[in-house]
Amino acid sequence: MDDEKEKIRQKIKSIKRLPTLPEVARKISKMVEDDKTSATELARIISTNTAISERVLRLVNSSFYGFPDRISSMSNAIIFLGFDVVKSLIICVAVFEMMEKGMPGLWEHSLGCTIVSRLIAKKVKGCDPEEISVAGMLHDIGKVVVSIQLAEDYQEIKKTIAEKKINFLKAEKEVLELTHEDLGGWLAESWHLPAGLREPIACHHYPQQARQAILATAIVHLADFLVRAVGHGSGGDPWVPVLNHNAWERLGLSMEDLEEIIFDFCDELESLESEGLL
Ligand SMILES: [Fe+2]
Ligand SMILES: [Fe+2]
Repeated sequence: MDDEKEKIRQKIKSIKRLPTLPEVARKISKMVEDDKTSATELARIISTNTAISERVLRLVNSSFYGFPDRISSMSNAIIFLGFDVVKSLIICVAVFEMMEKGMPGLWEHSLGCTIVSRLIAKKVKGCDPEEISVAGMLHDIGKVVVSIQLAEDYQEIKKTIAEKKINFLKAEKEVLELTHEDLGGWLAESWHLPAGLREPIACHHYPQQARQAILATAIVHLADFLVRAVGHGSGGDPWVPVLNHNAWERLGLSMEDLEEIIFDFCDELESLESEGLL
């Protein structure tokens, strides 16, 4: 079992590229050229793409730039590096594009969690909505790994979900003896992502396991639940995950807050659609 885990860990470490959307990359590149584009606007658009935002942050945090502190939000990356550098990074990412078909609906799900995580974070004291939205985008990155890098196991997981009527997480445990939380956590670790991103990725189904980014993990947990409950995108199975009572309590939100979040979420989806990003 330990040997098996080690084998998968090595496989994950060897991953060089993740899928991305070339059209979005082109749009971002155009926006950078427009003098009227603000850093916040650009950060918002870049953060809607898992592969691009993750790769850009990975590069920004690499020793190449050598910033003394980790930069975990896209807005900060743009402020520190400037539009032109960010544009170059995006072009690099687009050139090394590996357009593979991952899990249908996962992109929409991740985008939904990006938006909802930010909306929740705005209502909770002591949070950085920008960083938490990136965490929302990346939380299921382990599923991208499963569907692309472990394609055979992924087929087996899909079969297990259908036959046993169990959720993705349980099916992963049966087939891989590991979950996308484990895989995503390892990935985040090997890319040296900060705890603010790492823990929501590694603990979003069990937020009680977070030690440092407790609020961020609780927010991403709730965002995941809400996006699934609303029915936007797909997490790989037809069920809504169980909401952790302690995580909900910790955020101290009211039912009115919740209504507002869902309302604003639908609004933001509409504007992204009109921008051609959905
Ligand atoms: Fe998940
Ligand atoms: Fe999810």
